Amino acid sequence: MASTLDRRAFIIGDPISHSRSPLIHRYWLESAGLAGGYDPVAVTASDLTTFVAALKDGTSGFCGGNVTIPHKEAILDLVDEADPTARDIGAANTLWLEDGRLLATNTDTHGFAANLDEAAPGWDTGKAAVILGAGGASRAVIHALLNRGFDSIALANRTEARARALADRFGPRVKGWGLDSLQDLVRGADLFVNTTSLGMGGTETPHIDFTVMSDKALVTDIVYVPLETPLLSMAKRQGLATVDGLGMLLHQAVPGFERWFGVRPQVTPELRRLIISDMETKA
Ligand code: ATR
Repeated sequence: MASTLDRRAFIIGDPISHSRSPLIHRYWLESAGLAGGYDPVAVTASDLTTFVAALKDGTSGFCGGNVTIPHKEAILDLVDEADPTARDIGAANTLWLEDGRLLATNTDTHGFAANLDEAAPGWDTGKAAVILGAGGASRAVIHALLNRGFDSIALANRTEARARALADRFGPRVKGWGLDSLQDLVRGADLFVNTTSLGMGGTETPHIDFTVMSDKALVTDIVYVPLETPLLSMAKRQGLATVDGLGMLLHQAVPGFERWFGVRPQVTPELRRLIISDMETKA
């Protein structure tokens, strides 16, 4: 294998050209003065097995990488070992080779918590949380909240059955609801997390009165395009503390970079500005 100095990592997905991960990892490679690389590779569902085989036998030359839509779930069946976080979430986004074995984890849960640790220290002293949405992203947030000791997590989703099924998977601290219960669920809650595209692309945003949340309430969104989502603007207008989702994207990248290149990178204001300026250019 290449030395840590010239290792290469990848991000695979379909499509892949929209991914901002290359910008993040190349910024860190340059900041650390490393000669390694980070390459976006378009891999379709039917190509995934072949890609993984070349990764495992060393012919691809990669030491590991990121996995994004639509492969985050399917990759679990192809790796030699997924850690408990990836297994609990049912999806992996970070791979690395170790002694010839392909290992996997999910760093979205770390990214979510680290973003709030940085932007709203003490956010995890709350007990009750409401999560809007019951898709793949919601699973990583539930995992993070359970880890940080939240004991009442209400999942509100357009398709109530999906919320209930997801809640069952995570045990008694998590309960599933339909959107008609949303306003009642918000009352007294310490944390509200949006994981959906609600209110974007022309869909209407239902009015939520966030002022009935607890005194230390925080509203956050894991969607970061736009940086201020309709739900965050609504919460801000009502005087709530809010945290946008861009930090989650940046922080979820940290553990992968450290594994592949041996240096723990920093999420800096400069990196944040770089990504925001890319978003503005491509808006
Ligand atoms: P992701 O991996 O990003 O979470 P996903 O698995 O497709 O993506 O889940 C999208 C989530 O956003 C779901 O909770 C979805 O609700 P349904 O389960 O009812 O489909 C929710 N969602 C998307 N668009 C929505 C909208 N216009 N109104 C309400 N919920 C919406």
